[in-house]
Amino acid sequence: MQDIIRQLDEKRAAARLGGGRKRIDAQHAKGKLTARERIELLLDPDSFEEWDMFKEHRCTDFGMEKQTVPGDGVVIGYGTINGRLVFVFSQDFTVFGGALSEAHAEKICKIMDHAMKAGAPVIGLNDSGGARIQEGVASLGGYAEVFQRNALASGVVPQISMIMGPCAGGAVYSPAMTDFIFMVKDSSYMFVTGPEVVKTVTHEEVSAEELGGALTHSSKSGVADLAFENDVEALMMLRRLVAFLPSSNREKPPTVPTEDPSDRIEMSLDTLVPDNPNKPYDIKELIVKTVDEGDFFELQPDYAKNIVIGFGRMAGQPIGIVANQPLVLAGCLDIRSSIKGARFVRFCDAFNIPVVTFVDVPGFMPGTAQEYGGIIKHGAKLLYAYAECTVPKITVITRKAYGGAYDVMSSKHLRGDVNLAWPRAEIAVMGAKGAVEIIFREDKNDAAKLAAREAEYKARFANPFIAGARGYIDDVILPHETRKRICRSLMMLRDKKLDNPWRKHGNIPL
Ligand code: HXC
Repeated sequence: MQDIIRQLDEKRAAARLGGGRKRIDAQHAKGKLTARERIELLLDPDSFEEWDMFKEHRCTDFGMEKQTVPGDGVVIGYGTINGRLVFVFSQDFTVFGGALSEAHAEKICKIMDHAMKAGAPVIGLNDSGGARIQEGVASLGGYAEVFQRNALASGVVPQISMIMGPCAGGAVYSPAMTDFIFMVKDSSYMFVTGPEVVKTVTHEEVSAEELGGALTHSSKSGVADLAFENDVEALMMLRRLVAFLPSSNREKPPTVPTEDPSDRIEMSLDTLVPDNPNKPYDIKELIVKTVDEGDFFELQPDYAKNIVIGFGRMAGQPIGIVANQPLVLAGCLDIRSSIKGARFVRFCDAFNIPVVTFVDVPGFMPGTAQEYGGIIKHGAKLLYAYAECTVPKITVITRKAYGGAYDVMSSKHLRGDVNLAWPRAEIAVMGAKGAVEIIFREDKNDAAKLAAREAEYKARFANPFIAGARGYIDDVILPHETRKRICRSLMMLRDKKLDNPWRKHGNIPL
């Protein structure tokens, strides 16, 4: 028996060493943690149960039969984050550069299958040179098995990808199908084809960092949700994100006790909106002053900044927040912000997270760039997402709600449950100036007449009462009572039940 235990200990020690001391040191020298160190930081202490530590590849080409490493370049298992079950895979760059073999893929699939059965999130820590070149098509098959599971798990359990090293070629498509992508600055990159291929095909010279680094994807492409300074910060933030999410679509998100009174009054909000309707203000001030303890977990803060998305809590209950940002492009909806908002609303809807929408939107962005880029289809994504969404929807119009954008932003007509407006809200087809220039075109050379018409239009339409008279707005509230009114509404809607008609799936304008 002693022999067997010793053997087991030796086997475990060998597996834990992965690709060996030298490669571990090289990983550290790049400022990166190893696959196991990352898991240790991510999960609650002592909670990790590892599986398939002894699994090896079966490749016999290119002398691979002589090069087996127990675990085959990926560490898998389950554990807890703040006491809640999660499944994890963590690619080990010290073993064949974390490259994905058939056996490696089988390990990832194993935890994905278990996560679906158990109803718990899947977290992937990606650090890999891509397909294991020695294995050829077997490796491609392995990727596709993972992709298939990503698609089936979508909307069933949260899937989160952390990119902590290379992620290139078709390998990017597994993270792309997950719900959230986090990246680490300077040590991670994602691209479909690397700088060399880019140079050959398009003659562009670009570094890996510029082409697919964390800053590129968190600010230019919108592929990544957040970028962090290092592995430790990224893993700590991942723990924070998980705390907002339910374990699966069968559950509600976990409530967290709070000291912040749900009827807290915030007098400073009464002066948030400037007197001049063309002057911007920071919508994030409203968000931070409204959610529990000012704790707002913003996603994609550096991409399509004209819309703000993220998680917060109200009276302890997680909510998703979508808000137009008057500071950027006057809060207009354009292609990028529509897609950003739509995907977030759909995530919240899939996972039973109520959506709170703050509206200050002058409309959709005009111009050839937008029209040629397909704003019609992309704007429709946001409209579609809100229209099919059945979770509690609370809308607060702080200032402008013009035109089609009024309809889109969780209006009453799209089954908004509670629609509130601040007293200065302007709910109209368009701004007064644009409106009179169209309907009183004959007065265009008479400035005084036009000004009088504009004042008349403003007095008639630039307010929340016309919408209120039709019941499109449930109430006009004072800004300082916003938190109280949202908390109450959420409480009222706690057991909301609303189903869409049966269908295989809808056909969102992709
Ligand atoms: C097998 C690989 C590997 C791979 C790296 N290694 N990538 N082994 N298959 N894909 C091995 C290296 O041989 C090396 O082994 C160790 O991992 C570390 O690699 P280095 O090159 O020394 O590290 P570094 O300088 O940091 O460069 C990392 C890298 C580079 C940029 C990822 O290794 C690289 O370009 N690899 C090839 C990437 C690639 O073309 N992959 C296939 C993409 S196509 P030793 O023994 O020296 O430590 C693809 C298709 C997916 O992935 C399709 C899905 C549908």
